[in-house]
Amino acid sequence: MTQSLTIARPDDWHLHLRDGAMLAAVLPETARDFARAIIMPNLVPPVTTGAMATAYRDRILAALSEGMTFEPLMTLYLTEDTDPADVAAAHASGLVKAVKLYPAGATTNSASGVSNFDKVRAVLETMAEIGLPLCVHGEVTDAAIDIFDREAVFIDRVLDPVRRATPGLRVVMEHITTKNGVDYVKAHDKDLGATITTHHFIINRNHILVGGIKPHYYCLPVAKREEHRLALRAAATSGDHRFFLGTDSAPHTDPNKESACGCAGCFTATNTMPLLAHVFEGEGALANLEAFSSRNGPAFYGLPVNDATLTLTKGDAPTQFPAKIDTDDGPVTVFDPGFPVYWSAR
Ligand code: NCD
Ligand code: ZN
Repeated sequence: MTQSLTIARPDDWHLHLRDGAMLAAVLPETARDFARAIIMPNLVPPVTTGAMATAYRDRILAALSEGMTFEPLMTLYLTEDTDPADVAAAHASGLVKAVKLYPAGATTNSASGVSNFDKVRAVLETMAEIGLPLCVHGEVTDAAIDIFDREAVFIDRVLDPVRRATPGLRVVMEHITTKNGVDYVKAHDKDLGATITTHHFIINRNHILVGGIKPHYYCLPVAKREEHRLALRAAATSGDHRFFLGTDSAPHTDPNKESACGCAGCFTATNTMPLLAHVFEGEGALANLEAFSSRNGPAFYGLPVNDATLTLTKGDAPTQFPAKIDTDDGPVTVFDPGFPVYWSAR
């Protein structure tokens, strides 16, 4: 029996589009289902100024094919040299919707990130004044901290102190992967939200490591134990307004993933909405899918919910998603949930 669900068109509150040939190939995968996305600034070199964000937005819009509508919501990459006045101007013009904090060395292209938080205090204070959110990659980079504990330690050592030191700063804990992250968000009703990715609802750390190493399931923050996956599912499917979709769809070519030192990132732009329908249906919570993917994010960012809609349909046969997207840089493998999915999006 065919089942269908029409929701306000979703947005992706954490997306990597890259640049050049990769941008051209992956942009349609997002624009097909999503109206807007928060665009990550971790290019090489990173998007650190209003002028660079303007130029990057123009390249994204130029890469959109005829008939596709999509609005990139730009971010600035926070460095220890970021100028508060440039940030304020980029916000005032409507260009920039958030500033991105990468702890230096935490993930792909994060070398220019922050090591000394005293050096970004003035920027954070400006952001608190003007209401510009800080999107946080929440992992410590201390070599002594186990990679599976880096999110929980970040909350105690960095996130909570920074929030206390900067009252009014609006923070998005991005791609949370732990029950610790869920609990921290739930304990703070003001100025705090969190995104959750598609893949962290589906995989735990066993999927990466049992029966051979699976490079296409490796991303940062790395998937954790099953109890954490279940906490993420419960948080998102509850409809709680503080949790919203950020796919963290992060394309890398197959040679860069299937390597002795493989890149972190799962590419989920192509099949996120059908996968989410599967996940929410599995939790008996299809009625809350719209809140998670289309309503809670705009509410946090003070933007309108999209007028356009997306219809998800459950068919009798498994949906065939492409295994790979071809790009002029090389093939990019689409995230494979490892089970049949009967939902499709149009
Ligand atoms: C992202 C990337 O490849 O840019 N990778 C990832 O595993 N998520 C960077 C990031 O968001 O950490
Ligand atoms: Zn990311």
